[in-house]
Amino acid sequence: MAATIISIRSEHERALEEGVARLAEGLPIALPTETVYGLAADATNPKAVTAIYETKGRPQFNPLICHMADLAMTKDHATFDSISEKLARAFWPGPLTLVLPLRDTSPIHPLATAGLDSVGVRVPKGFAGELIAAFGKPLAAPSANTSGKISPTSAEHVADDLGDKLSLILDGGVAPVGVESTIIRVEGERVRLLRPGGIAAEEIEALLGHPVERQEGPAPTIEAPGMLASHYAPGAFVRLNAVDAQAGEALIRFAGQPVAGSEKAHAVFDLSPEGDLAEAAANLFGLLKQADATGVDKIAVGPVPDHGLGEAINDRLMRAAAPRDT
Ligand code: TXA
Ligand code: MG
Repeated sequence: MAATIISIRSEHERALEEGVARLAEGLPIALPTETVYGLAADATNPKAVTAIYETKGRPQFNPLICHMADLAMTKDHATFDSISEKLARAFWPGPLTLVLPLRDTSPIHPLATAGLDSVGVRVPKGFAGELIAAFGKPLAAPSANTSGKISPTSAEHVADDLGDKLSLILDGGVAPVGVESTIIRVEGERVRLLRPGGIAAEEIEALLGHPVERQEGPAPTIEAPGMLASHYAPGAFVRLNAVDAQAGEALIRFAGQPVAGSEKAHAVFDLSPEGDLAEAAANLFGLLKQADATGVDKIAVGPVPDHGLGEAINDRLMRAAAPRDT
């Protein structure tokens, strides 16, 4: 089976209709969001959720983010404290996920929440929100890639990886944010950053007027992004904070920063020649794929500032560079 690809720009109505039809059949579809492409399925249908795990080849069942059309829909499934509500009103639709207590009346299937009494919810911007409104039920949607591979930021990335396993890919062009959503969990007065992502932690801190609590290192607990060592990994080994390039490596740098020996590199890429961290985030996964596609054994990555969206970029780079299971 080869996936049908429909452009939401040129065939908006057909994209909506076909999307809703496949979702109603319990099939997962690839869907553009502002962060990365999602592998979306009806969060209330156990067969549909199981099909997400099968399609990704994910070895274990993690809690999945449930995507909603708007704040009102979210309130059917989760309860809000005042801080979470403030964040939702400020940042939705957009790349923020809130982990909230699950309502016992919610029809979201335990396979989507890994049986937890909480649920990760977000309201995506653009076409994804429209599709959810048309479908009328929340969509569980991890990134649309084989488990352990780099997240897709274009329909082509999805087609290359999962085209044979999917019936439908909705093409919305290149994902503008480029890294997954920021995940926040509020516990009383504490605001915990479970995963840095497409909204800079500083923006959240500015709104709340106090710091958020960072995880110490990539946390392997179930409530932290269920992404252990070798997540987001290209085939080549990744070397971080490279101050020099070695012969035969692909080099990824930031802001045109000179890296010694870069003339020996097999290929040189720049995340953002202008030094714009939002542009760098948008380019990150695509450039990792391009660097990997040059066939090198090693990708050297120059330093990226750790503020703003740099926090999410460095988080994903650390995961790409982490020791591999296999
Ligand atoms: O940008 C994104 O968030 C993308 C796009 C497709 O929307 N989606 C995404 O979804 O990254 P997913 O399902 O891969 O995110 C799963 C992560 C889990 O690893 C976990 O850390 C967190 O979301 N999560 C979900 N539900 C949770 C819960 N109940 N408690 C704690 N963490 C939860
Ligand atoms: Mg992912």
